[in-house]
Amino acid sequence: MKKPLLTILSCLAVTTALAHQQTGDDRVDYRQGAYKIMGWHMGILGDMARGETAFDLDRAREAARHLQWAERLTATTYTPDTKQAHKSRLLPRAWRDMDAFADRGKALKNEIDALESDLEAGNEGAARQRIGEVGKACKACHDDFREKMKH
Ligand code: HEC
Repeated sequence: MKKPLLTILSCLAVTTALAHQQTGDDRVDYRQGAYKIMGWHMGILGDMARGETAFDLDRAREAARHLQWAERLTATTYTPDTKQAHKSRLLPRAWRDMDAFADRGKALKNEIDALESDLEAGNEGAARQRIGEVGKACKACHDDFREKMKH
């Protein structure tokens, strides 16, 4: 049987990935990717909360699920091998006060869980307000533990 070119190419890509030792910098890439995913879905929710796009419960539920998943991914990336990663914008004070940092993460998780409950209940008004609370939980952590971003 003839192998399609795509299969061969993807096998090559997998082999290359396996041959490459994962470093702290790679993990920071992964972390930043997960945060970008959160940013994307917050964008969708924020537009709905502000009434810039129609409020759609199914779309909002899907966005909330992606937020929850991406939050779980970021939480696994704060390993010591990322401490020296140059591209990371995590402020060093987070390592000195990991409990406070982790609390910010928990606060976000709680708001996302609450948003999911509001959406399950079909309560649009509560969900709109809750999206604001989720946004505040993002900002609270960024204010304390992330370098200022230029863009
Ligand atoms: C517990 C702390 C914390 C919470 C909560 C948090 N963030 Fe972040 N966020 C960070 C840190 C730290 C970085 C920088 C990560 C790095 O560079 O190593 C970051 C980076 C980002 C970035 C930039 C990614 C890149 O490099 O391009 C975006 C976008 C982002 N966060 C969005 C969000 C959104 C949206 C939420 C809420 C839904 C959120 N964050 C909640 C700590 C947090």
